[in-house]
This record gives sequence, C-alpha cells and structure tokens, in this order.
Amino acid sequence: MKCVLANDHGAVELAKRILTHLEERGIEVKYLGVAEEISVDYPDKAKEASEEFFKGPYDFGILLCGTGIGISIAANKIKGIRCALLSDTYTAKMAKEHNNANMIALGGRVSYKEDPLKIIDSYLDASFLGGRHQRRIDKITALEN
Ligand code: RB5
Repeated sequence: MKCVLANDHGAVELAKRILTHLEERGIEVKYLGVAEEISVDYPDKAKEASEEFFKGPYDFGILLCGTGIGISIAANKIKGIRCALLSDTYTAKMAKEHNNANMIALGGRVSYKEDPLKIIDSYLDASFLGGRHQRRIDKITALEN
C-alpha cells in the first residue's frame, strides 16, 4: 500500500509518529511535511496532498492539522476527495466500510480517548462494504458536478 501524508504546524509530532507507524506496517509513505513547527496554511497542505494523491497511484491519504477540522474541510472542497475527520476507532472503521473515505484527518492538538495510531489501524484494517453504501457515495459524487 502507498499513502500520502501531510500536516500543518499543529501536528508535527503526530505526523512523525504516524510516519514511523505506517512504515512499520510496510506502507510506503510520500511525506509532504511540514516536518518542523513552521507556520503554514492548512488549505495549502490539503491542496498539495490532494494533487499528489491524484498523481498517484495512492491507496489513501492522511491529513493533519491542530484539530483535523480545517484540513478536512479544505480537502473535501477538492473534487474526488472524501476526507473523513476521525474521532475514534469506530468512526475510523465506518469511514472505510460505509464512506470509502480516500483521505482521513486527525488533529495533533486533540486529546483522543484512543491512541491515534489505533484509530488509523482501524481504518486500514476495515474494508469497504459496497452495495447501498456505493449508491450513497455515487450521490456524493453527483453533488460535485
Ligand atoms: C493552526 O493554528 C490551526 O488553526 C490549524 O492547525 C487547525 O486546527 C485548523 O483547523
């Protein structure tokens, strides 16, 4: 598997943890930074990561900012991106099973009740269920046009 990972200055440490974890899982990561706490604008990172994602092939993307909110809102403005803002292992599993999210977002300044790495694993270990969920995704896609 191959993924793209990007963050703003609000999630530098989380990005490092995720990068190591993904590599330990054997996932190839295209890391777009920022690797230091230099102030950047999260819409720019969302755009950069989405453009790279479409250059691909990539299986999924991970976007991080302080809360995960801004970068997920920005990514979801880009045609073809379905970015799920995750809060726990349950929403992570659903993001794949029901929404077939091609990007997931988390916040570097958020205190999660579960380890963010476990949240990511829950998304990675789930499979899209198709069927009625595909119909609903097709309707999301139709909203883009
Ligand atoms: C940056 O200070 C912060 O606003 C950003 O990381 C994010 O939390 C926005 O949603």
